[in-house]
Amino acid sequence: MRAIRAARSLLAQESEFSKLADEGSFLLPVGVNTSDFFTWDELNRLINYSGVTRNLLRDGSRTDNAETKEILAALQNGATLQLENIELFSPHMAEVCGQLTVMLGNAAIRCNVYLAPSSEHVGFRAHHDVVDAFMVQISGRKRWKVWEPLIEHPVWVMKEHVQDVSGRDPLIDVTLEPGSVLFLRRGDPHLAQCVGDEPSLHLTIGIHRVTAQDVLDWLIQETKQVGKFRRSWPWHKEAPGIDGSQVQWMNTLLHDLQEWLSSKSASSWLDAFKNHRAATRRVPGVVYAPGMVSARFAEVAPSSKVVLSHPMLPARVSKHTLYGLRKEIELPAPFVPLAQWLVSHPLQAISVGELSGEYELPVQQVCQFIEELLELGFVRIQE
Ligand SMILES: [Fe+2]
Repeated sequence: MRAIRAARSLLAQESEFSKLADEGSFLLPVGVNTSDFFTWDELNRLINYSGVTRNLLRDGSRTDNAETKEILAALQNGATLQLENIELFSPHMAEVCGQLTVMLGNAAIRCNVYLAPSSEHVGFRAHHDVVDAFMVQISGRKRWKVWEPLIEHPVWVMKEHVQDVSGRDPLIDVTLEPGSVLFLRRGDPHLAQCVGDEPSLHLTIGIHRVTAQDVLDWLIQETKQVGKFRRSWPWHKEAPGIDGSQVQWMNTLLHDLQEWLSSKSASSWLDAFKNHRAATRRVPGVVYAPGMVSARFAEVAPSSKVVLSHPMLPARVSKHTLYGLRKEIELPAPFVPLAQWLVSHPLQAISVGELSGEYELPVQQVCQFIEELLELGFVRIQE
């Protein structure tokens, strides 16, 4: 429930969210409960007992994969510690990101942590990011300035990537307190700095939006399946200048491309693109080690309430196979609809008894099947 509560608190204005997100950065009018997201204990666990990538940032310079000794010295010198993609190492944040994935129509969600101990240094200089993001202040205070963008819809690889904000007034100048959340729109230049003596701890929960570039990249990949788009150049030596046969060759290519693009309607192309995304996207989620799972959930009774432990796309449940993070299991045929129900209702818990009644399966068999899914980490029992 904690993860669902956290995700919902970010999207309290869910119906308006997509409209607001495209209009610009904004401070969420209602704060969130920080303990639903992250704690100092969890930070210490991640730093010391997980394989998370630990980077150091100081006034625009950066050290990747820092050693523990280096981290301690750098923090004392005012560097910011960045932990990348904690959703891969924190079961709770995996659930929060997974819930957001479902609530935001299958968007890919990643989460970084920033610990900034000093108000004298910044981690990054003014810059923009290529993802939309929620800045969730957990502890301490951080001042954010956000400027009007000068580059339209930036993506990762562009020839011109610098937005000079010097001499311009920020549109937003706000100090986040624990529980405050700033939504930062992709591309909006920003600068963040710890305020006061207390270290600032915040999460950046990034929403990777699908862009027109993603669709075009996919289309280019699709052309590789079409014979005429794999033709060789008609000449072997590249002489200087352009002759008529080369122009003819290029015209044919452009013509073939137009013809190929208009061979399908916009909705057919969209459908194919969505199928491609469903088949290739990484879904954040929770993976429990089998030993831990069996120890925690040894007994499954008809009254046990089952919930999916990480959201999966229904497309990932094929007729007899359930695909999950790093795992794939063959499903006994009678249990296919039951597994499909679980995957299609990622936020909902259902009792084993209800599942057995709904699918007319003996309750003992359903208990056994759920125990197998628990062992594999696909489901958990709601406590
Ligand atoms: Fe940033």
